[in-house]
Amino acid sequence: MSESQNNVEGTYYGDYLQLEKLLDTQSPMSAKLGNEQHDETLFIIVHQVYELWFKQIIHEMHSLVEIFSEKSVDDHKLGTVVARLERINRIQQLLMGQLDVMETMTPMDFLEFRDLLVPASGFQSAQFREIEILMGLRTSDRKAVDREYFLGRLNTKDRERLQEIEKRPSILELVEKWLERVPFTEDATFNFWDEYKKTVYSMLDQDEQTIRKNAAQMGEKYLAIQLENLESTKENFETLLSPEEHKKLKEQGKRKLSQKAILNALFISLYRDEPILQQPYRFLKLMMDIDQSFTAWRYRHALMAQRMLGTKIGTGGSSGHQYLKNAADNNRVYLDLFNLSTFLIPRSKLPQLPGVMREKLNFHFNIQN
Ligand code: HEM
Repeated sequence: MSESQNNVEGTYYGDYLQLEKLLDTQSPMSAKLGNEQHDETLFIIVHQVYELWFKQIIHEMHSLVEIFSEKSVDDHKLGTVVARLERINRIQQLLMGQLDVMETMTPMDFLEFRDLLVPASGFQSAQFREIEILMGLRTSDRKAVDREYFLGRLNTKDRERLQEIEKRPSILELVEKWLERVPFTEDATFNFWDEYKKTVYSMLDQDEQTIRKNAAQMGEKYLAIQLENLESTKENFETLLSPEEHKKLKEQGKRKLSQKAILNALFISLYRDEPILQQPYRFLKLMMDIDQSFTAWRYRHALMAQRMLGTKIGTGGSSGHQYLKNAADNNRVYLDLFNLSTFLIPRSKLPQLPGVMREKLNFHFNIQN
């Protein structure tokens, strides 16, 4: 029996948290080689803390996959989903702050031990990759250079495990199916999208009239540019409602979600104030927050790499800052949700929903007599 178990009854803090094991896992390479560099401990601890938080994020994401894999997601489960997404987002904020701690190490202090790490690199963070995959970033979506680093820098065990995970549905795919099941936009008596189209076209007609009215003052060149802009806005709206245009954009990789899922997400965003849609809207907003925080971290990490390395290459052999900046631009997962803003219209112009539908969208807290 250990000494700690003799001293106190029941669970002991250090045993419960297995601190002996945990705190014995910092082994600076420089110390092993007989010339310990003070800042290498910070470098190791910051990375380890990241990996612990990645583990927590993955734990939350697995639970989301489980909930969305069910045939239908009932309302109180959506509350759990929202709470867990909020937790992930808070963790992401912590992760951002940890780069400030990392940067208390100067580039010259880093150089004292950096070469000892080659070829190890963040490329080999299997948990970071797992988060990307769970969110919905597929290997086939990656740019060629990114794909090569992704597959090429991992050991066989990690690579095969990740490839297995990628075969299962991601959060993006499950949310797509959930969005496709959202009711409300069509019933026997009412097709919302016909109404929406009428509203958009009357808005665009009004815009054209305003442009033409101002042309007398602003001149012919102004008229041509403005009409051209208006035409491209019209074309954009067309892509929303036309299955053929949507298909083209999907083939070009510019859209990921199905047309039905995008339309239903737009409906939720437009009628977010209706009681039943408030929680789904919070959910979509949090999905965007998470994508945004992830991307913001990528940019911030790219800046840190530039500050530490200038234009030197990374320990994993990439171009360093430039590679990381491109990866931040190219690896957005929930861009379709951000792009919904293109199709929003002012609240004052929202088509009036028929009474039956308004009934369905409301909670019914009736006063009891
Ligand atoms: C001195 C601090 C750091 C520097 C200079 C640095 C630099 C780099 C560089 C240059 C790369 C590109 C791959 C390569 O060529 O090695 C990279 C990738 C990466 N780093 Fe860091 N890094 C630092 C700290 C961190 C920390 C604290 C984390 C937290 C886990 C991290 C996570 C990653 C990840 C996940 C990648 C892969 C990103 C991708 O492929 O999109 N790095 N890092």
